[in-house]
Amino acid sequence: MLLKNALLALETGAKKGDLRIKQEIIQEIGEGLIPLPDEETLDLDGKILLPGGVDVHTHMDLDLGNVRATDDFYTGTIAAACGGTTTIVDHMAFGPKGCTIRHQVEAYHKLAGGKAVVDYSFHGVTDHVDDAVVAEMKDLIADGITSHKVYLTYGGKITDYEAMKVMQLAAETGIVIAVHHENDGSIAYLREKHLSQGDTAPIFHARSRPPETEAEAVARTSYFARMAGDAPLYVVHLSSALGLDVVRSARKNGQKNLFVETCPQYLFLDESRYLEPDGLKYIMSPPLRTPDNCDSLWEGIIGGDVDTIGTDHCPFFYNKEKQLGKDDFSKAPGGAPGVEARIPLMFSEISSSRLSLEKMVALCSGNPAKLFGMYPKKGVLAVGSDADLVVVDPNKKVTITKKILHENTDYTPYEGLTLSGWPILTFSRGEIIAKDGEFIGKKGRGLFIKRNLPDLNVR
Ligand code: URP
Ligand code: ZN
Ligand code: ZN
Repeated sequence: MLLKNALLALETGAKKGDLRIKQEIIQEIGEGLIPLPDEETLDLDGKILLPGGVDVHTHMDLDLGNVRATDDFYTGTIAAACGGTTTIVDHMAFGPKGCTIRHQVEAYHKLAGGKAVVDYSFHGVTDHVDDAVVAEMKDLIADGITSHKVYLTYGGKITDYEAMKVMQLAAETGIVIAVHHENDGSIAYLREKHLSQGDTAPIFHARSRPPETEAEAVARTSYFARMAGDAPLYVVHLSSALGLDVVRSARKNGQKNLFVETCPQYLFLDESRYLEPDGLKYIMSPPLRTPDNCDSLWEGIIGGDVDTIGTDHCPFFYNKEKQLGKDDFSKAPGGAPGVEARIPLMFSEISSSRLSLEKMVALCSGNPAKLFGMYPKKGVLAVGSDADLVVVDPNKKVTITKKILHENTDYTPYEGLTLSGWPILTFSRGEIIAKDGEFIGKKGRGLFIKRNLPDLNVR
């Protein structure tokens, strides 16, 4: 197929031109390419061609014990495809206490295989770090699992000793350690304090997890990573100005391999949502923050301090699972949908001149692909890369509403936001899988991506 006359979002800048797809791959990029006999041609004049979105923070089918995230790898990747995301790297749930990482990798191959409609991989996850886990992480490099997630809060949190151990391994091997940064003890104390005072409403979710709890945790692990010899450390879902300050200061002090992800919810929504009657919809950790935190994160994006935009897509139904928290915020499952809206939300900021096209593509596709070992197969319009492509109509104004989205839940946190530009075609390895907001691909067509070691050159 030959795509003609599009504005191509190339790494070197936007350029009008043509792109030829052959056997799942981008075969040629140029100007005035002549259609071959029998070649299907699509005129994309006035449209923008982006590399497919790469969302390295989803939780499909996440098993929390009492509830399960409501998108599985089928519904969730349909939503991804319709929203212009063609690759996900999922953060797996903890398995049985103390289980191996492989236990979960095998379980997740079963959850995703035959279901996912876009290409996918998994971050390893563990609730403990000992010599066996270190050896397993080393072995898993050959299986294409080159990043792992650890938590500093929740049931499966690791100790400082364990964090040091895993950072040492990352420094030695080049794998990336993704960390959920929240200080467990202070959150437990504040939560108990609020609940004992009868402060059970959703806003107290935010009050019991203030920015300091995030900043402390980021400071702690960034020092560990530094002591280990600048281990590659990836801060997932950064939500606060205070946390970003810690990152800036660590980088100023010479730490190079410290990377930051934020998510649309921390850019477009603020903690006033918790005061609304449906405040439970926004229970997630870390919580939404005050508007000045959103502004600081935008400044971080513009200034180059933020490296990637993920979603932390982890949906539940407001009228079902979220109601567990109706009398006590701490009982509501944490997480919200977002995989479908990420590319449209971020693209729309180009028209408001907050973001350049190049930066948007770097944050949403190129950098996540590099940091998680998938570049240049994914995340870039380049000859030889997978033909994972998104055609955006920049003139299409869309008001987001749950009805037009495919996420398996009963709400979107972005309801009512009007965006400029919307994906109208999504290609995955050369095949059109979403068109005008509808999925037209086949169940289970997505492939597991055996990832390489990370490419840390994103700044
Ligand atoms: O509340 C959230 N974000 N739930 C999903 C798991 C996590 O912490 O990323
Ligand atoms: Zn998290
Ligand atoms: Zn998450």
